[in-house]
Amino acid sequence: EKRAKQAMLEAHELVSKLYHYVLTETPYGVEAMKYLTKRGMSRQTLTEYQIGFAPDSWDFVTQFLKKRSFSQDLMVEAGLLAKSEAGKVFDRFRGRVMFPIHDSQGHVIGFGGRLLDNTHPKSSQPKYLNSPESLLFNKSATLFNLHRARSTMRKRKQALLFEGYVDVVSAWQAGFMQGVATLGTALTEQQARILRRNVESVVLCYDGDAAGQEATSKAIHVLQQAGLIVRVAPLPQGVDPDDYIRQHGAEAFSQQVLLQAMPVTAFRLKHLRSQYVINDETDKTRLIAKAVEIINELDSPVERDLYQRQLAEEYSLTLGDLKWESKRAYKQQ
Ligand code: UTP
Ligand code: MN
Ligand code: MN
Ligand code: MN
Ligand code: MN
Repeated sequence: EKRAKQAMLEAHELVSKLYHYVLTETPYGVEAMKYLTKRGMSRQTLTEYQIGFAPDSWDFVTQFLKKRSFSQDLMVEAGLLAKSEAGKVFDRFRGRVMFPIHDSQGHVIGFGGRLLDNTHPKSSQPKYLNSPESLLFNKSATLFNLHRARSTMRKRKQALLFEGYVDVVSAWQAGFMQGVATLGTALTEQQARILRRNVESVVLCYDGDAAGQEATSKAIHVLQQAGLIVRVAPLPQGVDPDDYIRQHGAEAFSQQVLLQAMPVTAFRLKHLRSQYVINDETDKTRLIAKAVEIINELDSPVERDLYQRQLAEEYSLTLGDLKWESKRAYKQQ
């Protein structure tokens, strides 16, 4: 098992260099290079992240690994190659921009591969194809970019958590180096514990869409369970961090997004308001009851008082009535 793992590591290292070479030094990478340049990625970023391109071929990596005497079955297990039902082995990643994924010590253990915008436009191919779980690659215990982000994270006592690889890379290029991302799955307890070992607080920077909001609600819970202080960065509707940075720049991202990150209760109240359509007093009363529940979950009486005052003001209630409502809700639990 140890030797199998060693061989997998070696193959990943070689193949990541190969993909990077194809992207930056060969005609096969020209289109991908244009695509990445259009997306605003600098040459330095491509080098730092060892971003690459897997040519649109069934046997490019297969032949490369064969020449170097790697066992095909092992390479299929590692997810660099795939095997058809008929037993034919072929390249798993074809025609994709490749983002190497590293373990905490900086070894390549997997890839995320993105389709070029204009290839397979109507195919059923997923936009991102990730390496499968293997001896090497445990998705629930890995965070993209951790090995690069760790020192800045520790210095700042804060991590930025993103949804996508590109968000992390874009933030890094703009000077925000404490960013990490999950690998296309929901945040796990293990990942939260890894963060807790490095920082005290996390700013959630998920996409400004419904999926991002839902994922934020779930991640808040997991992070708080791990003992982390959580804030939520507000992104405009339909915009993700990479979009924002490209549209508005690093300074705006810092001032308008990161520095505006909201405490969890404020986020949950905002989320609640966005979910309710208020037509009459009944709707309004229901919304207030829900808001009261959220506020009641706070341990600190001072904090509860602050949010109650805001809510009372927002809906023109007397603070006395709201506190009474709040006590009643608390007893009903
Ligand atoms: P997004 O769809 O938000 O991608 O998915 P993105 O990062 O904004 O990518 P661009 O800007 O279109 O290139 C966020 C993350 O979800 C996972 C990937 O890890 C991706 O980074 N994902 C997404 C998949 O695993 N498969 C998919 O088909 C799509
Ligand atoms: Mn290079
Ligand atoms: Mn998204
Ligand atoms: Mn996105
Ligand atoms: Mn994006």
